[in-house]
Amino acid sequence: MHFNDIQRVPGDPILGLIDAYAADPNPNKFDLGVGVYKDALGLTPILRSVKLAEQRLLDTQTTKTYIGGHGEPRFGALISELVLGKDSPLLESKRVGATQTPGGTGALRLCADFIADCLPGRGIWLSDPTWPIHETIFAKAGLMVSHYPYVGSDNRLNVEGMLATLNQVPRGDVVLLHACCHNPTGFDLSHDDWRQVLDIVRSRDLLPLIDFAYQGFGDSLEQDAWAVRLFAEALPELLITSSCSKNFGLYRERTGALLVCASTADKLLDVRSQLSSIARNLWSNPPDHGAAIVAEILGDPELKSLWADEVEEMRGRIAQLRAGLVEALTPLGLGERFAHIGVQRGMFSYTGLNDDQVARLRHEHSVYLVSAGRANIAGIDASRLDLLAQAIAAVC
Ligand code: LMR
Repeated sequence: MHFNDIQRVPGDPILGLIDAYAADPNPNKFDLGVGVYKDALGLTPILRSVKLAEQRLLDTQTTKTYIGGHGEPRFGALISELVLGKDSPLLESKRVGATQTPGGTGALRLCADFIADCLPGRGIWLSDPTWPIHETIFAKAGLMVSHYPYVGSDNRLNVEGMLATLNQVPRGDVVLLHACCHNPTGFDLSHDDWRQVLDIVRSRDLLPLIDFAYQGFGDSLEQDAWAVRLFAEALPELLITSSCSKNFGLYRERTGALLVCASTADKLLDVRSQLSSIARNLWSNPPDHGAAIVAEILGDPELKSLWADEVEEMRGRIAQLRAGLVEALTPLGLGERFAHIGVQRGMFSYTGLNDDQVARLRHEHSVYLVSAGRANIAGIDASRLDLLAQAIAAVC
């Protein structure tokens, strides 16, 4: 038999929770696992702007033919504007190009193969901790993966440790940075921290790869792009992975882009020729439905404004849930211990709960968190905050 020696591997640490949660018969269960937004009804809604754009596509789209390796140019131009700002000098000088990808994960995968093929010998540096798929995607592409400290055992941002390690990174290596809403911790760098990182990147000639998966979920669509724009204006070369999964709610449509900023328009064409060749061997042509929706929204002032309001609504709800959880923990004597939940940004919180407490929450209270204590705050049911706080108190 050909498959006899194949061993079963453990399920994905994040996506595996979807099935475990669904199978739990407890009516009071909490799904704080995979990073999806849920509204007050516990649903992950299709945004109104998305529905309207989809309807337009249904009425007007005339073909489903291939769109080419880089995807739809209109999507690429609009997503570049969203990320870099419409007045970015890079747009005018044609130093930035977007490649449409199957989600932000596809953009990371394309980036990993690009580094392996075109920048041989470069290692990649990830924050410790980081999204688990960062670890595997670059390792599977054959890159040497190393880490810089980010959050210490005290569950606080360790900027000093981060800067000290980045100062030792071999010249030319790639450093992956989270633009905002750090996954899994929710701890973001201050503007001053970012400036210090930029100084090191410049002085050690590192190549930054900024993962931008949560634009609009931190402080606002514009403010969340602050560090990306700082780097894009200060450096000749930059890689950015952008995801439309969360801010457009297009999770299963697999919509994202890899943006490359190059030193000249001509050099960009060289890089893009490599990217389309790599993409051809990965997925040939990118999926288009989600990207067509995004282009429809961003290209229409009315739809764009409706969408921006919807992003703001999601962001505001997450902020309220953060404050609400700290408030519900306070009478249980845990307000101070979990005060960081109110300071963190985006969907996720590194709660500080250890693996044993996470296991007890799951088995004794049907509260599902990712290991190392990552909670998806955007998945909390606001009407049951007290129940959640009591479950947390019971394992602390
Ligand atoms: C998460 O971290 O939960 C999300 O980014 C979903 C995923 O693909 O892991």
